[in-house]
Amino acid sequence: MPIISWEQKYSVGVVEIDNHHKQLINMINELYFAMSNDRGQRLVESIIKDMLSYAKMHFKIEENYMRESGYLGSLQHFREHEKFIEKTQEMAQRCEEGEFVLSFEVIQFLSDWLNCHILESDMKYVPAFKEKGLR
Ligand SMILES: [Fe+2]
Ligand SMILES: [Fe+2]
Repeated sequence: MPIISWEQKYSVGVVEIDNHHKQLINMINELYFAMSNDRGQRLVESIIKDMLSYAKMHFKIEENYMRESGYLGSLQHFREHEKFIEKTQEMAQRCEEGEFVLSFEVIQFLSDWLNCHILESDMKYVPAFKEKGLR
């Protein structure tokens, strides 16, 4: 059972961004699977790093669209992205240093964050993106 699954309620109406969110969901599940099956620290570390760079790419594109569409809540939204990057970077770092005791709290954090962020924050830019004709 995946820890988080894509559902229509996550759709922001822009195919490119929906695909990014789907991929992030896949990566969280991959991490969950690796941990549940005790696949080792190395694999977990590499998934966290891949997810970090994927999230950075996604945030950059999303932020560009926010600027383009003149969405007013951008600054606060950018800060949420930064927080996520910081937190994930910290996880990657701790994992690299080997002092990191892997726990499902990490996965829970990632999946809760993504769930809340898409439903509460990303959804807020939907009207501005629509107005701009983004699909
Ligand atoms: Fe976002
Ligand atoms: Fe997003």
